[in-house]
Amino acid sequence: MSSHRAHALLAILLATQLGCGGSKSATAPTPTPTPTPVPATPPDPLRDAASASGKLVGAAVQSTFLTDPRYTEVFDRHFNYVTAEYEMKWDPIERTRGSDDFLGGDAIASYAAGQGMKLKGHALVWHGSVPGWANGLSNTDFRSAVEHHIRATADHYRGQVYAWDVVNEAVADDGSGLRDSIFRQKLGDGYIADAFRLAHQVDPQALLYYNDYGGEGLTAKADRIYDLVRDLVQQGVPIDGVGLQMHISAANPPDAAAVASNMRRLASLGLRVNISEMDVQVRDLAPATRLDVQKSVYHAIVAACVAEARCDAVTFWGFTDAHSWLNAPVGSDAPLLFDTAYAPKPAFFGVQDAFLHR
Ligand code: XIL
Repeated sequence: MSSHRAHALLAILLATQLGCGGSKSATAPTPTPTPTPVPATPPDPLRDAASASGKLVGAAVQSTFLTDPRYTEVFDRHFNYVTAEYEMKWDPIERTRGSDDFLGGDAIASYAAGQGMKLKGHALVWHGSVPGWANGLSNTDFRSAVEHHIRATADHYRGQVYAWDVVNEAVADDGSGLRDSIFRQKLGDGYIADAFRLAHQVDPQALLYYNDYGGEGLTAKADRIYDLVRDLVQQGVPIDGVGLQMHISAANPPDAAAVASNMRRLASLGLRVNISEMDVQVRDLAPATRLDVQKSVYHAIVAACVAEARCDAVTFWGFTDAHSWLNAPVGSDAPLLFDTAYAPKPAFFGVQDAFLHR
């Protein structure tokens, strides 16, 4: 090749590389194009699947989480029912006697309203959230403190809550009778009926639930819960439903058929039921299979609610493994529907399939 032809070829080659009017120096290497990251397509909204079967789908939240856009993006897309994880309980509201602080609950309530989500108040009477100052009160004074709390809180959230967990965890773990809580000791067994009556008087529109754990399947505790709410119904106490918390383990889950029968007998009393705090621990299972087992447990239990006409909602106790009450430290279990990076887990698709009858 003549040197003239070689120069002409080089000129063509450079022109091709730089394009017309290229301003880069002829010695610059062609840059490797940076691939545009392909965003993972988010799954279809879970709330659409829940609505298709006539159910609400909820999650427990804390007000501080609602300032994290990664959190709210997933929360807003998938849920239409909200429970305050702790900020509507007695102790955080009334740390000091007589000075009610509703700020945390209000932040959750206004967020829910802004998103068109329903709100569940949780929980007016619970042995796990009695303010320290209330422990030393006389029986009479304790009664007025409890009445103040129910009256003030139900009044504050009137018109904002769709439902209240009025009494939480009042039955003893062995099913022998009522838990020997401070409420029972100071107020007698009638405190449960009294709480429902007062809550109904203050907020007649709210659905009123009794809520408990360990009574999901046909256990001795489930029998006592059944007896308790049957008696309340027979006495004309304004109770609308029963919440089955469903904090369960994938290694030893309740039998889904037993959960379905239990829901049916509660429904036969004219009550609603809901799954109120579901999470499924996996730490006792082999890492290789745990997420698939968890998926099938979620599917079976949610399917029991889907099959029961009077089961109105499924609420999870959080939705991301980054924020679960079972995580101490974070990552010690993985009980929820989304992983710590907010990606949907097999469990998510198990729940979605159950809502869609798949
Ligand atoms: C737990 C919350 O998740 C924690 O953040 C809080 O410190 C303690 O209570 N059953 C219930 C819930 O009814 O209120 C509990 O929530 C979990 C067990």
